[in-house]
Amino acid sequence: MPLRMLHLAKCRPGQIVGRAIVEDDGTVAVAQHACLTRDSLVALEAAGHTNIIVDADDAFEATQERIDESWLTAGLEALASRGIPPMDRVPSLRRQAATDLNIAYRSPTVTALFGDRENVRGLITRTIVSEFKPKVLAALVELKIADASLYVHAMITSVAAALIARAIGVPHHRTGQLIAGTLLQDIGLIYLPRDLESAERHRLHPLLGYRLLRETEYVEALSAHVALEHHECTDGTGEPRGVFGQNALSVSRWALRPLPTLIGEISAVANMYALKSGKSRDGGLSPDQAIAALRDAAGIQLNKAVVGAFLQATPIYPSGARVVIRGGDRDGFRGRVSTINPARLDRPIVTLERDKRNAEIRPLNVDMLREKASSIEMRAW
Ligand SMILES: [Fe+2]
Repeated sequence: MPLRMLHLAKCRPGQIVGRAIVEDDGTVAVAQHACLTRDSLVALEAAGHTNIIVDADDAFEATQERIDESWLTAGLEALASRGIPPMDRVPSLRRQAATDLNIAYRSPTVTALFGDRENVRGLITRTIVSEFKPKVLAALVELKIADASLYVHAMITSVAAALIARAIGVPHHRTGQLIAGTLLQDIGLIYLPRDLESAERHRLHPLLGYRLLRETEYVEALSAHVALEHHECTDGTGEPRGVFGQNALSVSRWALRPLPTLIGEISAVANMYALKSGKSRDGGLSPDQAIAALRDAAGIQLNKAVVGAFLQATPIYPSGARVVIRGGDRDGFRGRVSTINPARLDRPIVTLERDKRNAEIRPLNVDMLREKASSIEMRAW
């Protein structure tokens, strides 16, 4: 159980005590795992206690954020009406979700991440598929029916999150919580009123998603935190709580202020990558531009240590990949990645083989680190 120390004034009835509160004479005032009540809080204050260690999963209840309870009720009713799939339907739903995951894999967004590393792809596919538990499948079906593009986004985010978790060495069970959380992190969006202002939808969907996942127990508590935290920023400007990160892979468990969870911070990085690179289908950011956006956001919006681990683990343009130069003097020239630059994975050495009219040229090595006006796009030619 993750623990957090909270000032007594910030504790609320319903929170779970993480460590027994012991009086000076050795008697136990409140036992570990006890649920705080209004009366026990008054008694603790009267006895002079100032800080209480509580279950961090419930510390959220101490914040001021509120949502319209009717949205939560509507969401809970919709999910309940869909129901949990009967066991005999689970294999076919799991197969369908796995097929959708493979479609997401074949997108340029994910191909750019994985290259031809089949072993990594296989490992992450198995990890994600193992999180397609009946309750998660039920919610995924709901998400797919309500918003197909959101569903694809969830798949891509999960892949990126799994890759980051693997790079960091996140334990297996935590990786599972992360993946289940990233698959469902946007579920709040489908139950918010359509006429709500878009900034409000953005601000409130993590909160509604968190509440839905907590109350339905579709996923574990920490997975619900992924929904809550996937739009938080390291510098405290994120939503909905505005918690500050510490730009590290491990943080003090005894901090006096709320901190994002590591898997929440991983989901924020994966979410931004999926959002930025997802736009490449519409002529938006190419994978290297999306990575550059992550680098720019590291330490400000995103946990710097998590972004660093992601960049190290991601070849972006694997050796041998066919690419097209964009911008600069050689705009439109085609070539293959010949050498990966370990310090700048998005800036490899490219051996150009064809000009912009697709005519063969004498092979020419170009160091993309020096070609500041150009970028590369991974594309068949
Ligand atoms: Fe979101």
